[in-house]
Amino acid sequence: MGTDTRQLLEELREDHRNMALVLNVLEEITDSARSGDDPDFDLVDEIMRYMTVYPDAVHHPKEDVVYDELKKGGSGQVAGLDDVPADHREIAELGTKLRDDVEAINAGAAVRREHFVEDASKYVRRLRKHMLWEEEDLFKRVDEMLGEDSLAIDVERFRHIKDPVFELEIESGFKRLMTSLKSG
Ligand SMILES: [Fe+2]
Ligand SMILES: [Fe+2]
Repeated sequence: MGTDTRQLLEELREDHRNMALVLNVLEEITDSARSGDDPDFDLVDEIMRYMTVYPDAVHHPKEDVVYDELKKGGSGQVAGLDDVPADHREIAELGTKLRDDVEAINAGAAVRREHFVEDASKYVRRLRKHMLWEEEDLFKRVDEMLGEDSLAIDVERFRHIKDPVFELEIESGFKRLMTSLKSG
């Protein structure tokens, strides 16, 4: 079981590396929109669809399971953990807002460019801050618990879920995103 948990933590770290790449693409688009260029909203739509179907639907629930185990681990491990579900919820809400902007724009509605830039910047900032906190604090606490070999997490329910962009490159719904990741 210890090995599975170690692997799960490695998957979480890899998810973060992948999400960081996607956030870089989103940030570039946001910066060019801020300076007056017309963003590729179909690409932003793919990015936000990816964020909904993988990080929000798989990565964060996986973390919730890990953090629940940490909570059981005693007093030294629990600092800040109660904030995580609210953090994940807030990130998902900011993501939904941004998705709504982009869907409205793609449907021809008049959404102001500044509005998109503001929502996208907020989303990138918020998710980066959350990931950094996890990497520098929470993941290290999980490492420590693994060192004691006392952490057993049932990861079976996540085993069949693949990342549609980074693992299943063939997924046709993310062509633009995959192209921009390769050229970036
Ligand atoms: Fe998280
Ligand atoms: Fe995370």
